[in-house]
Amino acid sequence: MDDLALKPNDRVLILGGTGFIGKRLVTELTERNIKLRLLVRNPSAVPAVILKNKDTEIVKGDLVSGDGLKEAVHGIHSAYYLVHSMGGKSMFKTTEFARMDKDAAKNFISSADEAGIKRVIYLGGLGETEKNLSEHLRSREEVAEILSSGKPLATVLRAAIIIGAEGASFVMLKYLVERLPVMICPKWIDTRIQPIAVKDVLAYLTGSLLNPDTAGKKFDIGGPEVLTYREMMQQYTEAVGIRRRIIFRAPVLSPHLAAYWVDLVTPIPSGIAHPLIEGLKNEVVCLDDKITEYIPIEKTPFKTAVKIAVSQKD
Ligand SMILES: NC(=O)c1ccc[n+]([C@@H]2O[C@H](COP(=O)([O-])OP(=O)(O)OC[C@H]3O[C@@H](n4cnc5c(N)ncnc54)[C@H](OP(=O)(O)O)[C@@H]3O)[C@@H](O)[C@H]2O)c1
Repeated sequence: MDDLALKPNDRVLILGGTGFIGKRLVTELTERNIKLRLLVRNPSAVPAVILKNKDTEIVKGDLVSGDGLKEAVHGIHSAYYLVHSMGGKSMFKTTEFARMDKDAAKNFISSADEAGIKRVIYLGGLGETEKNLSEHLRSREEVAEILSSGKPLATVLRAAIIIGAEGASFVMLKYLVERLPVMICPKWIDTRIQPIAVKDVLAYLTGSLLNPDTAGKKFDIGGPEVLTYREMMQQYTEAVGIRRRIIFRAPVLSPHLAAYWVDLVTPIPSGIAHPLIEGLKNEVVCLDDKITEYIPIEKTPFKTAVKIAVSQKD
């Protein structure tokens, strides 16, 4: 267990450090004087706030091809895995991501095994495998399994929608609610979900690194409320002070058709939006709250999380 505790000179690798969660985590860990290294696909796109800290190392690479991985993992104590391969603008070519995510996780774990990395902390998605999971959520589970199969002890955190300014799911929610006074939705409108504030996710990610007892364990993380998508949309209007929306549940609107009109209303590329929309049919609620025994935090209510998210520009 001594090995698992982070010491002052240990370095932590962040994969996905340029993303919505990763960028915020870099700031959080830098403020705690934790030494960091980032593997990034495009070093020129690394935000200035990250480059400001001269002690943070940047390695150019790509998890899917495996380029740069050997250099990235060398001498690393623990790694965060905050990566997914969804993206692109094509409405029809959105299925490649699962294969790429599988390759990326395998590439990482074989390099991590060789380099003797002690721990990996992964943020994946909630959802139960036996319940006709969407391809996206199934792929998140597959990555969890691959990362848990290596020598580093894996901590797997599973979350539903994360409420924060740049989160893809949150941006879709924001545009739909703010642009459409009347919505006709498929039956997923009454699916239950447990949203979580990005601030709470960061507390759990940081807490996992600092508490070695979380190594080798899987935790569901969520906010204090379980809501349906309908309730979430109405609470959003109350949080930002706009009129409540009129929401109809259509008996026959196919999720595919719904995905295409989401393309028209929101700025999220269809390569991300469509797999996320397919996942709306799956209930994403924490199975337990055992994370509280290891990392006790005061959970941020949904409306507070929305108010914070809409007040932030990035
Ligand atoms: N956002 C949510 O609501 C939410 C909810 C539950 C769970 N999660 C989980 O949280 C994690 C982070 O998600 P996010 O919302 O922060 O995603 P994001 O903003 O889209 O960031 C994804 C990151 O992955 C990097 N990446 C993608 N492919 C890569 C590759 N081949 N090699 C190296 N890096 C690569 C991207 O780098 P580039 O800058 O080069 O593109 C980016 O830094 C994911 O595991 C996701 O499943 C998110």
